[in-house]
Amino acid sequence: MRILLFGKNGQLGYELQDSLAVLGELIALDRSGCGLESRFCGDLLDLAGIHATINALSPDVVVNAAAYTAVDQAEQQHELADKINHQAVAVIAHACQHINALLVHYSTDYVFSGTSSKAWTEQDIPEPLNQYGKSKWAGEQAIINSGCHALILRTSWLYGARGHNFIKTILLLAGQRDVLSVVSDQYGTPTSATWIAAITVKILRTYFNHPRPEQLDGIYHLSALGKTSWYDYANFIIEQAGALGMAFRVKTILPIKSADYPAKAVRPANSQLNTAKVQQTFRLTLPTWQSGVIQLLEELKHND
Ligand SMILES: NC(=O)c1ccc[n+]([C@@H]2O[C@H](COP(=O)([O-])OP(=O)(O)OC[C@H]3O[C@@H](n4cnc5c(N)ncnc54)[C@H](OP(=O)(O)O)[C@@H]3O)[C@@H](O)[C@H]2O)c1
Repeated sequence: MRILLFGKNGQLGYELQDSLAVLGELIALDRSGCGLESRFCGDLLDLAGIHATINALSPDVVVNAAAYTAVDQAEQQHELADKINHQAVAVIAHACQHINALLVHYSTDYVFSGTSSKAWTEQDIPEPLNQYGKSKWAGEQAIINSGCHALILRTSWLYGARGHNFIKTILLLAGQRDVLSVVSDQYGTPTSATWIAAITVKILRTYFNHPRPEQLDGIYHLSALGKTSWYDYANFIIEQAGALGMAFRVKTILPIKSADYPAKAVRPANSQLNTAKVQQTFRLTLPTWQSGVIQLLEELKHND
């Protein structure tokens, strides 16, 4: 099996480079894999380049881990976010449809408004509150409209050893400040990029072993189990890091309301995803959100 991966250097892309290699030949590109020094284009702003790359490589599977993910900056850079998260995704999907390749694409809990207190299902209608969520939702629709075979995996509150994320920010700030103020009225599910990458392999194995794999095409909610607020999450990180022997300056973590936190983008109050469909379809046992956080803290401590 030949797999083409876009976005190999992101939090998730980096983990996918390891995990996808077990399935066959992996060609992993980042945005610099474009131009004279490379035959293949990985820059999602070069629409003709990515189309030509998919045609030239003719992969069985295209995995798209590249995205514009700066949620606050997207409020100003909404055209750029739309180009990467929507227009480029439309081109990838059409190219996949043309060569009959499966597209694995990642999307976000931020496609939802967050107004319901229940976990969101795949049947719930997205109503994104911010430009990032709008661009990701437009990307999902472009995939569906292209008619290509696709698995759209919506995940949430992603973290990994590589890249920027909430865990690393909290550890950094806890070492610098006496008091941290953290939003306590937004709920969601922290999810490990390492775990998403491993589960993607399981999902692909089940997909290709299925007698009618196209029956599995569609949108799936894929996150860890449980939910928490950013405030409780921050407390958990500091408690667990402390138990591992990490020392911090921080004495107090204060809960604050979203309205009192100066963010450019509005975020959903509840973005917990209901994962029943992915569990049943692919016979998966999902971990609790806490287990992945502890695992990353152990890894960060070990690499320190
Ligand atoms: N992070 C989260 O909390 C979260 C939550 C839910 C869903 N998701 C989704 O999960 C997926 C993976 O997210 P992540 O956290 O791994 O994101 P990330 O760490 O920000 O990685 C995104 C990658 O996309 C690349 N990229 C940006 N613009 C590009 C372009 N024009 N051409 C090629 N590559 C480009 C970036 O490259 P550079 O490094 O060169 O900029 C980066 O390597 C995304 O689809 C995201 O929407 C993320």
